[in-house]
Amino acid sequence: MDAATRQHIEEAFLEVSRGATRKKLYGLRAEQDGELQLARLFRAIAVSEEAQALRLLFQLRGQTGKNEENCQLAFAEEIPELISRVEQAAETAEKSGERAMYSAFSQSAQVGRKHLILKKKLDKNRGLDTAYHVCTFCGFIMEGDAPDNCPICSAPASRFKKV
Ligand SMILES: [Fe+2]
Repeated sequence: MDAATRQHIEEAFLEVSRGATRKKLYGLRAEQDGELQLARLFRAIAVSEEAQALRLLFQLRGQTGKNEENCQLAFAEEIPELISRVEQAAETAEKSGERAMYSAFSQSAQVGRKHLILKKKLDKNRGLDTAYHVCTFCGFIMEGDAPDNCPICSAPASRFKKV
């Protein structure tokens, strides 16, 4: 693959990845305003853009990679890097008195650290067979049943999505 094509794929990947999350937000707004068909359309576009992002990433990587390599990338590089970034962002937000963003970034760091803990638990128990419940507000992941309230952001059990 030539360099220009690769760059176009990388740019399109970032754009559709961001776009999918934006469409989810637009869908929520449309739902709040009672525009249900518009909300559905935004949600459908979000799913569409997620599919396109996955396809583009597949083109970039050429393959899905081996589990061992993907685990190395996710748990030794990507997640620790994300934790470090949001910790720095939390520090900056605290210094500038941005309390809401300090809280959001700190919670993201806690959520990321929990992801690493969950992987360690899986490594210790390869026979593990449990559902995960994800807080759709802050991203916290709970093993087994959803908690009554999210331990990170206090969202109620109804905000958890089972995986
Ligand atoms: Fe939460």
